[in-house]
This record gives sequence, structure tokens and C-alpha cells, in this order.
Amino acid sequence: LRLFLDTADREAYARWLPTGLFHGVTTNPTILERSGLRSDLSVLAGLVETVLRYPVQEVQAQAWGTETRALVETGRALAAIDPRVVVKVPVTENGMRAVCEMHAFGIRTTVTAVYASHQALTAAAAGADYVAPYFGRINDAGRDGVAVMREMRAILATAGDGTRLLVASLRSADDAARLAAAGCDTFTFGTAVAEGLFADPDTTAAARAFEEAAAR
Ligand code: E4P
Repeated sequence: LRLFLDTADREAYARWLPTGLFHGVTTNPTILERSGLRSDLSVLAGLVETVLRYPVQEVQAQAWGTETRALVETGRALAAIDPRVVVKVPVTENGMRAVCEMHAFGIRTTVTAVYASHQALTAAAAGADYVAPYFGRINDAGRDGVAVMREMRAILATAGDGTRLLVASLRSADDAARLAAAGCDTFTFGTAVAEGLFADPDTTAAARAFEEAAAR
């Protein structure tokens, strides 16, 4: 199992990363912007340094630019920050050319903004380490997200050659549990979902009863 925290918020890192539950952190330009950060090499170098002070193994940072050359340049610069950086790239044609090039340089990649099963096939062909489908948004579009995840898993099982399904856009801890029961083992989510990892009113009551008994 690999869990990633999908945020660029330093307070969230301080709250969640010391728990030891997270394999790493995922970010993208939208997430950076939400925390008032630019997609800029020095900003991301600072973010990577912050994250790697915690007990995690990977930081995923997204390359930027629409052309393949820009994606490869920014991706190579991100990967040079630390060997634990995984470079995210959207599943556009230029993006996939960039993933193929970076794969040839030995750079680890995540193909992101994935909505359709055939895009998992494309990511596998490019040698991506992860493919990140937007589960919640697929459901929002009226499709059966669990069925799509199952199909992508089946594709990667036969064609994946090491490409891992990293399910993104989760809306609840229950989403992660349902998907894990359906065979998924790698997830990224924000702090609202992280809060839900422990939440159950019966657990709260049972924990309180333990504390009261221990105090007596
Ligand atoms: C992943 O890269 C995205 O940040 C994220 O999972 C999208 O989630 P949303 O649908 O909640 O915006």
C-alpha cells in the first residue's frame, strides 16, 4: 500500500507526514497555486526540501509547459533536485513524448489527468512509473469510477511492466477503502480525506471508554 498526501500546504505536512502513514506527497500547479506558490524551480526545490525532512520516500512535482521541450526541461530540472522526486506530466501527446524522453534518461514519472482506460495503456507504453486517474471526477462525469479503476488495473496487470495505478481525486476515506477492496493499492488525497482515515463515532466512544477505564 502507498498513500500520498495531495497538497502543498506546509501546515498539512507538519500535521500529517510525521504520522508515518504516507509514502510521499503529490503536487501539481493547481495545488501549488492554492497554497499561494508558483510553479517555479526554486519554489519546488524549497517544497521538496521541506517534505523530505519528514519520513517519506517520494515527492511528486509536475513539469510545466505545453511543448515537449519545455516539459522535458522542467522535468529534468525537477528530477535533479533529489533522486526521490517523481515528475508528473499530463497525458497529452506532448506530455507523453516528454515521458518517453524522461524514461530514457532514467527519470521516474507519473502520468496525470487521466480520465479514460486507454490512457493507462498509453502511460504504460511510455514507461511511466505511475498513472494517476481522477476517480472522483470520473464519477462526477456520470461514469462508474470503480469499474474504470478495475479496467485500468486489468490493463496494467497485462501491459503495465511496472506502471502502478495511483488513484487520485478521492472524495472520502471510504472511496479509498472501496477501491482497495477492488484491488487498488496506491492513493493520493488531501487533508479532508486524511481526517476521515480515523473517523468513526464508535471508535471515538471506544477510545474514550479505554481512557476512562485507565484513569479509574
Ligand atoms: C491530482 O493530481 C489532483 O490534485 C486531484 O486528485 C484532483 O482532485 P479533485 O478532483 O478533488 O480536484
